Amino acid sequence: MNFYRFNELDSTNTYMRNNIENFEEFDVVIAKNQTQGRGRQGNTWISSEGMALFSFLFFEKKNIDLKEYTKLPLIVGISVLNALNNLENNNYKFKWTNDVYVNDKKISGVLIERKNNKFIIGIGINVNNEISENLKNIATKMNNYYEIDDVINEVIKIFKFYIEKFENGKWNEIIEEINRYNYLKNRNVEIKILDNILKAQVLDIAFDGRLRVLVDNEEKFYNVGEIIIKK
Ligand code: BTN
Repeated sequence: MNFYRFNELDSTNTYMRNNIENFEEFDVVIAKNQTQGRGRQGNTWISSEGMALFSFLFFEKKNIDLKEYTKLPLIVGISVLNALNNLENNNYKFKWTNDVYVNDKKISGVLIERKNNKFIIGIGINVNNEISENLKNIATKMNNYYEIDDVINEVIKIFKFYIEKFENGKWNEIIEEINRYNYLKNRNVEIKILDNILKAQVLDIAFDGRLRVLVDNEEKFYNVGEIIIKK
């Protein structure tokens, strides 16, 4: 596990992706700032100094079916949540599929990409950065100052714990825990899939990791799309 540090990159995910053969499993690329940080669904992740901005490499295991790895975002999300809780205890919530929220505001996001049977796990956490005025109603940060390295080390340590659990067939314990932190539970949401918007009520996160919702009193399961919380 090596750390590669940069003052500035376009994106730690892009850098790792473009140089993937040079990295070993659990190597970490860290940037103090990113000029083209990327989020899920093609969104931009606006980066600023003081955030934890990093990507690490994780190798697929041959004995695990590829479709099992649709659970990977959830495993990363619950790892970040627990890492943050260990550093600074708070009322963190897990927002399916992999975000962490606190006090109804987003504190961290995850972007996972796959190349050559490897996963690039990119994580952005608002740690010491100031939240800009225009994001203050949707984003938040840690209350105290933390060394970014400590945050990253904690996240990877906890991820290793959960991924081992997963590889040892204990997904049932992980999904149970995730559901205890489920931010969307019982909420009315709008599910945006491409250009369609559906109104739904969230029930829980199903055993297979999909979101279980009610649409017009009918139970449905979703694994793609963007969840927008209806106010
Ligand atoms: C999201 O919430 O949409 C995901 C945001 C992921 C941001 C992190 S920051 C480090 C890594 N590099 C990127 O370009 N994106 C991820």
